[in-house]
Amino acid sequence: MLTPIRDPSEARFEDSLRPRKLAEYIGQEKVTANLGVFIAAARARAESLDHVLLFGPPGLGKTTLAHIIAAEMGVSLQITSGPVLERAGDLAAILTNLEPHGVLFVDEIHRMAPTVAEILYPAMEDFSLDLVVGQGPAARAMRLPLPPFTLVGATTRAGLLPAPLRDRFGIVHRLDFYGPDALTAIVRRSSGLLTVNLDVAAGEEIARRARGTPRVANRLLRRVRDFAHARGEEAISLDTARYGLERLEVDGFGLDDLDRRLLVTAIEHYRGGPVGLRALAATLGEDEGTLEDIYEPYLLQLGFLQRTPRGRVVTERARRHLGYPTVQGDQEDLFPPEGR
Ligand SMILES: Nc1ncnc2c1ncn2[C@@H]1O[C@H](COP(=O)(O)OP(=O)(O)O)[C@@H](O)[C@H]1O
Ligand SMILES: [Mg+2]
Repeated sequence: MLTPIRDPSEARFEDSLRPRKLAEYIGQEKVTANLGVFIAAARARAESLDHVLLFGPPGLGKTTLAHIIAAEMGVSLQITSGPVLERAGDLAAILTNLEPHGVLFVDEIHRMAPTVAEILYPAMEDFSLDLVVGQGPAARAMRLPLPPFTLVGATTRAGLLPAPLRDRFGIVHRLDFYGPDALTAIVRRSSGLLTVNLDVAAGEEIARRARGTPRVANRLLRRVRDFAHARGEEAISLDTARYGLERLEVDGFGLDDLDRRLLVTAIEHYRGGPVGLRALAATLGEDEGTLEDIYEPYLLQLGFLQRTPRGRVVTERARRHLGYPTVQGDQEDLFPPEGR
């Protein structure tokens, strides 16, 4: 219920809720303000927009922004992803077919094969394609011009990109978890599009439990709507929102089962830390990268976990939430939760 990763069955529903314009995109004010300026300037100069790298945990609006960038530039959007591009030729075919000033969105760009990334470098830098024609002693290098284009890359962590690729993006933005006000506004907007009535307090309750993630907020809204329907309600009430969220086992802080297991494991097997992420991943039987990209950022944001030079430490706040006795001398006050 709370995974920020998109379930294929949600695709149609998600696409219908995507904001289409920068002005409709809620929250992330710094990102949208900067992009607005860069887009207006590129349009005024009749140039393609600089390449844009968007990074941040899943479900925060990276794909949505790629669509918006193309729409605001008034150009077409081509969508692909790192793992889909198996050979350099796959990318070359896409690049040569782009509309001038068009946007190419590469999702999960950190998973692009190095041989594919190689042809992306000159393409991003001087809009040219370096090809080797022929084999052996007869082989020759050829350079083909490409239409100017904008690459929009999305990744869960900028640190996963090779430096030469990262350096070729002129515009780099990190998306953060949404605060309660922005998420409430997103839930309200979505309820309007879904034509369901939603009491103000019910919207706030859904937003509070959505782990700072619009994708999760929209999913919870859709499920709570079913409970309201089953109760014959005209508008989703706070009582029904709470009841539905409880039935869905969504915790007051938006933690899911793996979040809880991660914290409990750190407390019970590693005395609350410091413990390395690798050790935690091994004990949990989970992939280290998944923990780092998907689970840890939200726990850090909540102030349930801290990163220290010696490893991850579970905070007093998390202990209290999970019903563990708290330990004196915890450093919580020295490290207030990030953000918010
Ligand atoms: N800023 C926002 N305002 C309104 N809705 C948003 C916003 N960001 C994301 N969403 C909603 O959340 C869903 C997931 O966003 P998406 O762009 O697919 O996330 P990502 O690509 O980062 O995983 C979208 O369907 C969209 O409806
Ligand atoms: Mg996406």
